[in-house]
Amino acid sequence: MSAAIQPSEQFRQKALLNNDRLHLSAQKDRLGFWEQMAGELEWFKTWNKVLDEENAPYYRWFDGGKLNVSYNCLDRHVNSPRRNKAALIFEPENGTGATYTYYQLYRKVNYFANVLKKMGIGKGARVVIYMPMIPEAVIAMLACVRIGSVHSVVFSGFSAGALETRLNDLQASLLITVDEAYRRGKYIPLMENARAAVDNCKCVEKTMLIKRGSREIELNKKNELWYHELENDIPLYCQPEAMEAEDPLFILYSSGTTGRPKGILHTTGGYLVGVHTTFKYVFDCREEDIFWSTADIGWITGQSYIVYGPLSNGATSVLFEGTPDYPQKDRFWEIIEKYGVTIFYTAPTAISTFMRWGDKWAEKRDLSTLRLLGSVGEPIKPEAWSWYYLHIGKERCPIVDTWWQTETGMIMISTLPGVDKMKPGSAGRAFPGVCVEVVDEKGIPLPAGENGYLVITTPWPAMLRILFNDPERYESTYWQKFCGKFYTGDGARSDEDGYIWILGRVDDVINVSGHRLGTAEIEGDLVEHQAVVEAAVIGKDHQIKGQAVSAFVTLKEGVDGSEELAEELKRYITQKIGAIARPDDIFFATELPRTRSGKIMRRLLRDIAEGRAMGDTSTLLNPEEIETLREQYADESK
Ligand code: PRX
Repeated sequence: MSAAIQPSEQFRQKALLNNDRLHLSAQKDRLGFWEQMAGELEWFKTWNKVLDEENAPYYRWFDGGKLNVSYNCLDRHVNSPRRNKAALIFEPENGTGATYTYYQLYRKVNYFANVLKKMGIGKGARVVIYMPMIPEAVIAMLACVRIGSVHSVVFSGFSAGALETRLNDLQASLLITVDEAYRRGKYIPLMENARAAVDNCKCVEKTMLIKRGSREIELNKKNELWYHELENDIPLYCQPEAMEAEDPLFILYSSGTTGRPKGILHTTGGYLVGVHTTFKYVFDCREEDIFWSTADIGWITGQSYIVYGPLSNGATSVLFEGTPDYPQKDRFWEIIEKYGVTIFYTAPTAISTFMRWGDKWAEKRDLSTLRLLGSVGEPIKPEAWSWYYLHIGKERCPIVDTWWQTETGMIMISTLPGVDKMKPGSAGRAFPGVCVEVVDEKGIPLPAGENGYLVITTPWPAMLRILFNDPERYESTYWQKFCGKFYTGDGARSDEDGYIWILGRVDDVINVSGHRLGTAEIEGDLVEHQAVVEAAVIGKDHQIKGQAVSAFVTLKEGVDGSEELAEELKRYITQKIGAIARPDDIFFATELPRTRSGKIMRRLLRDIAEGRAMGDTSTLLNPEEIETLREQYADESK
């Protein structure tokens, strides 16, 4: 275990919090604490009860309260000295960026909301946003919540197939997308993906397109519309809908242990209280800060900490469309220098990549405005932590390693930067008002130092409320294993200071570059390929990505495994799900190792893929096969 590091005295002195008062107040009265935090937002009507547990695990927060998220993110700043402060700084992949003040963003959102209304979109309607990282994506999100419709942002790196699954599951009536997107200077025909998906979705009545490119595109008049053509004759102001605290706010899909992605539903009041509070205290948010989260808005980090957390706090948030290595490997550092970013939030996989590229890229840029760094998405290795601390933070900036999930909506475990010492590799303590435990298989809390399962023992405001369309799966995935404690799917241990050390997923979910992928989803797609009979997918340790996808497949009789076929299968998965799910290696096996009860032994496959000595094989039905597999694998990886 590495030594603990104290935040610098300079940071502590100016920090919003430099003592334990928040933790102490939450320990004394957890619900009172959350009630006080809720008081920092503007409500149209106050709640009757902070938490209703009667129908657990269907919890209700701030029941009876009414508010609007877009109002809290925009109107109340527009009615304050923040009116002309930068809300969003947009840095496109290339070309000129744009800054939107709170007032300008407010105007755009009002227009957009009125356009949605004109199209017949109302309260409760489901709208899918399939867009790159451009301001219109944020505007569309805020416009949806202004009128009470429920958005679901689908990561623009997903394929048409993945989009189609989500549109159908949601029974979405509107799709908002763009004509073109770009990545590393290359044109991406997002619109074509959108069309291919919509072709198989009866529910989608209209596709609304934002114009970005200059290519001529012929729209299908029946169901496709340009946003800019609808924008005329639109009233400037759109009254924000007074939403019930428990009205749905958005649905975001995340991978689980079955083939079908989970539609994680967040509601209005509790979610906003959670992200508002955690943004403020974990990132020590000050009026003059420029905050940059490098996540995509298609993931929860983007939703919570590019959009709702920063904007509800009246902060300035950077939105970057591009990638860290285009046109050069100093792109991130160039942006920090250009805008004077003060708080920088990224993923360990990016940090490992920067380490590999060498120190020189960051050295030639001015990073002196930075005062706080953050990490999220996967465990950060102590070496990467130290590199980040030294080369980016120059030993001046504390690092907050924030643990949370799509399901939790908000940061759950993190150090508070002006209060807590940092231990590289550990996320820190549970956030005030959040209670976690590390338990054994039976749900019994384990002493410090022992590895077990991470559970959350009490409800928290930004918790998911249900899996859309699937209450049974909601109960069985999260609440049944440990009888009413929330099962996170992560392994962890605690230490003598109550710090949590995350060990990674313990279920069949793998984490590639901070993105969750279900092994079952990739397997399901692989077996749809005509050459494949069976598939087992595992996450293999990877220096940069944390984990990489490895697939073991058996082939139909008469089909031979070849390099071409492996490439074809990789392409097939890219096309089915998206490039993030592309396997690093495909391994052809004559049989997959199974237990006597017929379960595929993934642990052994992982041992093979990572070249380790094998674990216990006593329960194996076909032990001789595993040796053959290992030999084949060793041959192929030469
Ligand atoms: O395994 C944990 C890992 O990411 C999972 C959640 O993934 P997702 O819902 O996509 O949300 C990612 C961004 C919040 C967790 O179950 N994870 C997230 N943050 C950390 C982490 N693992 C270790 N340390 C973290 N700070």
